[in-house]
Amino acid sequence: MSRVAHPAGPRHGDVLPADHPPVPPDDLNALPAGIWPRRARRVDGVLTIAGADVRELAAEFGTPLYVCDEEDVRSRCREYVDAFGPDGRVFYAAKAFCCRAMLRWVHSEGLGVDVCTGGELEVALSAGVPAEQITLHGNNKTLEELSRAVAAGVGHVVADSFEEIARLAYLAEGAAVRPNVLVRVTTGVEATTHEFMATAHDDQKFGFSLASGAADEAVRRVLASPDLSFAGLHSHIGSQIFDTAGFEVAAHRVVELAVRIRDEHGIEIAELDLGGGFGIAYTEEDDAPEVKELAQSLRAIVDGQCRAAGLTRPRLTVEPGRGIVGPSTVTLYEVGTIKDVDGLRTYVSVDGGMSDNIRTALYDASYLCALASRESAAPPMLCRVVGRHCESGDIVVRHAYLPSDLATGDLLAVPATGAYCRSLASNYNHVPRPAVVAVNQGAARPILRRETLTDLLSLDLG
Ligand SMILES: Cc1ncc(COP(=O)(O)O)c(C=O)c1O
Repeated sequence: MSRVAHPAGPRHGDVLPADHPPVPPDDLNALPAGIWPRRARRVDGVLTIAGADVRELAAEFGTPLYVCDEEDVRSRCREYVDAFGPDGRVFYAAKAFCCRAMLRWVHSEGLGVDVCTGGELEVALSAGVPAEQITLHGNNKTLEELSRAVAAGVGHVVADSFEEIARLAYLAEGAAVRPNVLVRVTTGVEATTHEFMATAHDDQKFGFSLASGAADEAVRRVLASPDLSFAGLHSHIGSQIFDTAGFEVAAHRVVELAVRIRDEHGIEIAELDLGGGFGIAYTEEDDAPEVKELAQSLRAIVDGQCRAAGLTRPRLTVEPGRGIVGPSTVTLYEVGTIKDVDGLRTYVSVDGGMSDNIRTALYDASYLCALASRESAAPPMLCRVVGRHCESGDIVVRHAYLPSDLATGDLLAVPATGAYCRSLASNYNHVPRPAVVAVNQGAARPILRRETLTDLLSLDLG
């Protein structure tokens, strides 16, 4: 049974969904820049990341395996710091991928760390990130988490509800350091890759609504507490954002609140945190902006809005997660079964799936995929790369062109899996979570070890 794509394009085009890629890529062995880690190369046909041969990595650490190019992460940190500094600040959103090595790298490159649970806070503290360079987020922080944050002296707490302001004020009584509070506002702007919506209603769980006046009231309550220090405002409008139109509307609304704060309380906000959400390229269709351009544009927007309102520009903070770590990592899989479902499509099963990358199933995310352990001159085969879990929605790459001589035992690599893959990984079907290996100058160092069945069984009390 042939696995070769029809020479005119996708095989069986009449029964395939309309969103299929129209033509195969010119070169199946190419590693398009901007999608693969900056130091991904083919050496004698084999994929190497920062000088490390993927066949050797797979042999030493097993598959699936997240392979992270450390210098890629560091270089992106430097780009953000250069673009937003020296008067602005960059905080890495640890939810994208959180482990001690990662937080040490970003901290050593001049970033603060933004955490949203007590767990992430502990990782940051134990990585040696100074508490004052940590911001604590979360829409339902527990008393324990708030209390730990206050005792540790975290730099900022982002207030997300009236109950939380009251709890924080209570916990801060007599604390060594008065917590700096940012009030998270819901601007009614929601942005994604290609579009944004600015609505009058704010139907979501985060923050205080601007439209209802809740944000004004939250500021009043923070200012009324002698144990809290009001630092400014926070707004996060979405993820995988490619243009600044949404930020412009959000900034306008936040600055309007800043004007009301000045008029009512006689103070100007010192800080404005615009959150994260800066997009990256997952496929060649994604045209992610340069960080420098993004920073210039955001700065111009905030400058313009503040000037028009007669306010001094507050210190600007951004919280990129995906933009720092997303492009640095590829996931390596070993090909298992290859099944040609005659007349429909070819299914290539790999030894991971939705437990190490839930984004395709959860968000219908698109990824590229390449044969990594060798190159091939075979014609392209349109296929679906699927995982090993007991769900038909367990898809890693919905539409992939791979060489038609693909065989069991080959290694596949999926790029741009640094953000929201390991951090959203699960043990579904009792599959242990993969290791993360950092590569640099040809050397590999595991930074998160692979889980074992013993790890999983140790939780089971019988
Ligand atoms: C408050 C806040 N800041 C920053 C981020 C990071 O977003 P991204 O990884 O898309 O840059 C998020 C993501 O959900 C967030 O909720």
